[in-house]
Amino acid sequence: MTPPPSPRPHRLRTALFLLGLIPALRLAVGVRTGGLGADPVATITATTGLWSLNLLFASLAITPLHRLTGWHGLVRARRMLGLFAFFYACLHGAAYLVFEQFFDWAGMLADIAKRPFLAAGGLGFALMLPLAATSTDGMVRRLGGRSWRRLHRLAYLCALVAVLHYLWLVKRDITLPGLYALALCALLAARMARPRRSHGPARSRSIPRKPAPLHIGTDENTGQGDQ
Ligand code: HEM
Repeated sequence: MTPPPSPRPHRLRTALFLLGLIPALRLAVGVRTGGLGADPVATITATTGLWSLNLLFASLAITPLHRLTGWHGLVRARRMLGLFAFFYACLHGAAYLVFEQFFDWAGMLADIAKRPFLAAGGLGFALMLPLAATSTDGMVRRLGGRSWRRLHRLAYLCALVAVLHYLWLVKRDITLPGLYALALCALLAARMARPRRSHGPARSRSIPRKPAPLHIGTDENTGQGDQ
């Protein structure tokens, strides 16, 4: 029996792009209308931090979902999810730097010494930089699929550091960051339970494979679509 047709990948990407903009647009409207509550800076920091984390997790969930469903369109959406996670992390860090610290670098260092969870946030952000910088087709080509995949495993470390940042800053109820920690364990377990590739017809390693068209994060150029 023929499987039902999968939604077209470009439709999924368009839908994700529009959905990914919603939290930023809501914040922008809130800023204009004064609808961000008693502490608008805290609302901006919390919203952007949570969305960065959600989108980072969503990008990590693509690999197991792809394995379950076999739908390649999912893998093609991963880059967009990762870049949106980076976008919200930039807004998150900028909100802290501009609205909380007013570009007072010395004050920021003193704040980090007082609230070390900030250093974990900074590390999480620093780990996102090489991932974002190598997300273009050109960089995948330059690095080669294998090195690119290896580098992009940093996304798991980034998620771990971001969860620690969240766990560390929460004072009382750790339920939500605890759930993120559990979800990360599940994603890591799914990553480690990666099935061995099926042994198709033998292909000599000495014969170079014909270069495939490059689509970042897809099976075509990064192997199994795994990071
Ligand atoms: C540029 C580095 C970063 C800085 C300076 C920073 C700073 C902050 C600050 C000041 C808060 C609010 C703390 C409070 O409520 O007392 C916060 C919360 C949070 N941050 Fe970060 N952060 C950084 C990076 C990140 C990254 C990379 C992520 C996720 C990928 C992240 C996720 C979160 C989350 C989930 C919260 C909690 C939101 C809530 O209150 O519900 N942060 N961060």
